Parts: sequence; C-alpha cells; structure tokens
Amino acid sequence: MKNSSIITLDGISKVFNDGDVPFYALREIHANIMQGDFVSIVGPSGSGKSTLMNIIGLLDTPSSGEMVIAGKQVTHKTRINALARIRKDTIGFVFQTFNLLPRISVLQNVELPMVYAGRSQRKKRAVELLTLVGLEKRISYRPTELSGGERQRVAIARALANNPDIILADEPTGNLDSKSGDTILSLLKKLNKKGTTLIIVTHDEHIARQASKQIKLKDGVLQ
Ligand SMILES: Nc1ncnc2c1ncn2[C@@H]1O[C@H](COP(=O)(O)OP(=O)(O)OP(=O)(O)O)[C@@H](O)[C@H]1O
Ligand SMILES: [Mg+2]
Repeated sequence: MKNSSIITLDGISKVFNDGDVPFYALREIHANIMQGDFVSIVGPSGSGKSTLMNIIGLLDTPSSGEMVIAGKQVTHKTRINALARIRKDTIGFVFQTFNLLPRISVLQNVELPMVYAGRSQRKKRAVELLTLVGLEKRISYRPTELSGGERQRVAIARALANNPDIILADEPTGNLDSKSGDTILSLLKKLNKKGTTLIIVTHDEHIARQASKQIKLKDGVLQ
C-alpha cells in the first residue's frame, strides 16, 4: 500500500554496558518512514548510524522503546527467532564490505537467502536478479574474481532475493570508486522508484541530498 507507514520508531534507545558506565549508542529515537521513502542516515563516525541500521534491520534489539517494522511490533523482549522470521520476509541488506561468501559462486551467493527461506525455483530467480544488475555473464564466477562494483551488484541481487519491502544499505559505495559508486546508487534508486523503501547510511553529501528524508545523528541523539 502506498502512503502507509512501514517503519515507526518510538523512543528507541540502545545502551551498551561496557564496564561500570552505561553508554548510550542511541537515545530516544523517534522516526516515521513511509513505504517507498528514500531515507539517508547521516552523522559523524560513532554517532550510532550502524547501530540504528542493525536495530531497524532486526539484527539487534533495542534496549528500550518500541518499533513497528512492516506491520510487526518489536520491543526489547522480542525473541531472536521471531526477529529472524520477520527479517527474511521484509529486509534486504547491503554492506560496505559486500559480505559475499568467497568460496561459492555468484549464483549460489544470490540463491542462499532463498535456501534459508525455503523458496522454490531459486536458480531461475537468482539468474533473473543477476540479469537485473547486469551480471548475467558472471553467474559462475567466484566473488573474488569480480571488481568491487560488481561484487556490490551481486550483494544487491542477493538483498533482493526474497523480495524485501525494505533495503538497508550501510555505506554501500564506501569502498568503491566514484563511477562504480554512481552505478550502485542508480541501481538502488531504480529499485526505490519501483516501490522498495530505501535506507542508506552515507558520509557522502551528494548521496544524502538525493534522499527524500534525512535522519541526522550526533552522539546517538536525533538532530
Ligand atoms: N557492541 C558494542 N559494544 C559497545 N559499544 C558499541 C557496540 N557497538 C557499537 N558501540 C559504540 O556505539 C557507538 C556508535 O557506533 P556505530 O557503529 O553505530 O557508529 P556509526 O555512526 O555507524 O560510525 P561509523 O560512521 O564509523 O560507521 C560507538 O561509540 C561504538 O563504539
Ligand atoms: Mg557505521
């Protein structure tokens, strides 16, 4: 449904208890993200951007606060198993360092999330997705045989495997030259135009400005 909320953050905090002093990586974050939004998360190093991405992406739980992700309520009490179940149907991740498995082919890397989700026709879909990102000629390569930009396109194909509502990309162009970075950004924007909600952590002002919304963090606090 267009114009409906897909992510609501209601007072999300994350506290790390290293030693005696609690450290607030995030403090009382409130935000509302609509389906189809393109959001950039910006702020200095250590301001909590990745922590927030991991919480929205259900890789980590908040210490307090509540959130609704694609209609599912999440709190600090939500179990890891439940988070994983919501995550595989809802979220696709793209990381700065690609995080592909080096010993299996590009095709198998893209198939993997579909294996975990128990989907059929995995190979057919993986080939379609690799064609979408312009890598149909590279399906039997290993990730180590690809350039950085190509690896990131594989990671995007993998993120799309289970048809997510939301793509979370943490510095997706951070390890790429500017031309490959532009290719990756155009690809992500194309997916966003088709309706996927896109959230990008970036240090790049040029990228941040293209987003329809910005979340600015400093010392874990929304600016
Ligand atoms: N597991 C953890 N235990 C303790 N402290 C942590 C943990 N994870 C993150 N932090 C701290 O929380 C703060 C925010 O970290 P985070 O990784 O979210 O920053 P960031 O904004 O993504 O920075 P960068 O731009 O460098 O990637 C940092 O001070 C970090 O040291
Ligand atoms: Mg980070």
